[in-house]
Amino acid sequence: MSAALFRSSTISEDQEYSKFFGHVSNQIRIFTFPRSMSLSPTINAVDLSAMNSLGLACKAERVTDLNDLSQLPALSALACLSAPVVVLGGGSNLVLPARLERLVVRVQLKGIDLVEQRPDAWIVDVAAGENWHDFVTNSIRRGWDGLENLALIPGTVGAAPVQNIGAYGVELDSRIESVTAWHIPESRLVTFKREACGFKYRDSMFKRAGLGQWLIVRVRFCLPRPWQPVVGYPDVLRHPALAGTTPEAIRAQQIYDAVCDIRRTKLPDPAVLGNAGSFFKNPVVSESEFNALKLRFADIVSYPQADGSFKLAAGWLIERCGWKGKRQGRVGVHARQALVLVNYGQATASELLDLAAAIKQSVLKAFGVVLEIEPVLVSDAGD
Ligand code: EPU
Repeated sequence: MSAALFRSSTISEDQEYSKFFGHVSNQIRIFTFPRSMSLSPTINAVDLSAMNSLGLACKAERVTDLNDLSQLPALSALACLSAPVVVLGGGSNLVLPARLERLVVRVQLKGIDLVEQRPDAWIVDVAAGENWHDFVTNSIRRGWDGLENLALIPGTVGAAPVQNIGAYGVELDSRIESVTAWHIPESRLVTFKREACGFKYRDSMFKRAGLGQWLIVRVRFCLPRPWQPVVGYPDVLRHPALAGTTPEAIRAQQIYDAVCDIRRTKLPDPAVLGNAGSFFKNPVVSESEFNALKLRFADIVSYPQADGSFKLAAGWLIERCGWKGKRQGRVGVHARQALVLVNYGQATASELLDLAAAIKQSVLKAFGVVLEIEPVLVSDAGD
């Protein structure tokens, strides 16, 4: 099984893989490999600071690249000899320790393939190592609309389902048909339909299982047709890129332009200032908790949820505690978005986590609300 076959558009993946089926159920399909290729030689003592968007200094003892699906069994064989591996995509949602003895695997699988052009959807397969924003840009250019609200999110396609990325009214899971992932400990490739991925707000079963269990190799997108713009988010609706357009005449490119511009204005560019996007999730509270908070803080920013609970804007809570723009040594809270913690250079994970703990403590004290860290915290002992 090679990356070239993975990109094949003449034979459906199901037909090809059907030769190797081990098990099929409604939501999950399992494949096995007929042959295996060895892994790329490991590189020793690699500095990962340029490979994580927070720019944290991290010395990895062993790093290898995954370029082809047929290397997966060799990866499992290697992994069973040591602690769970660390799967590295774009490194945009990880907090890395100063030193990693665990094997680090850089996912370099490439390929974008229009599998089917159905009357009701574009079905597109994308290999995990593709850059997320480049794929979004490419898809809009080719008329596969539906991902424009998720433009400019750092990271890779394979990392996107792990935290179920979302922005400006669109959550990734609403655009996914299935995710194919390699279970490293059991050495098997499984395709999960969307319902089996356990997607929640900034969460999935891949994240809950911990790093080193599942390595996502491919995401199959289902982009509904006819395309419907999502412009409920005030910042997008009011953006000049949409000015003078009626709702019927809006094009995906306009939303894409608006989202890119909003993100560039509000969020720091990781290439300039290390960050992992939102460092905390927006917390969800019950209706009674929300009513009590609303009595004390009339201007609290909240979003009612379908189940009657309320999501609170963590950025507002943090700003109200006085943290916005504050610097603590080599780390700090971004001046335009209090939900984003930044590395001013040379910071370590522990400095960042100390700041996060102090913020959590303030928010708990002021509002009685517990903030949850959004990126994955990597330790050398396993996650
Ligand atoms: N706010 C403040 N102060 C701040 C930041 C925000 O008061 O410093 C309040 C404002 O009222 C603002 C509201 O919070 O209107 C919401 O802020 P924003 O639009 O920036 O969105 P967010 O809730 O802070 C979430 C996602 C972002 C995503 C945006 C836009 C999470 C954890 N974060 O942030 O995702 O881009 O919405 O949809 O859900 C990410 O996950 O890394 C990320 C950047």
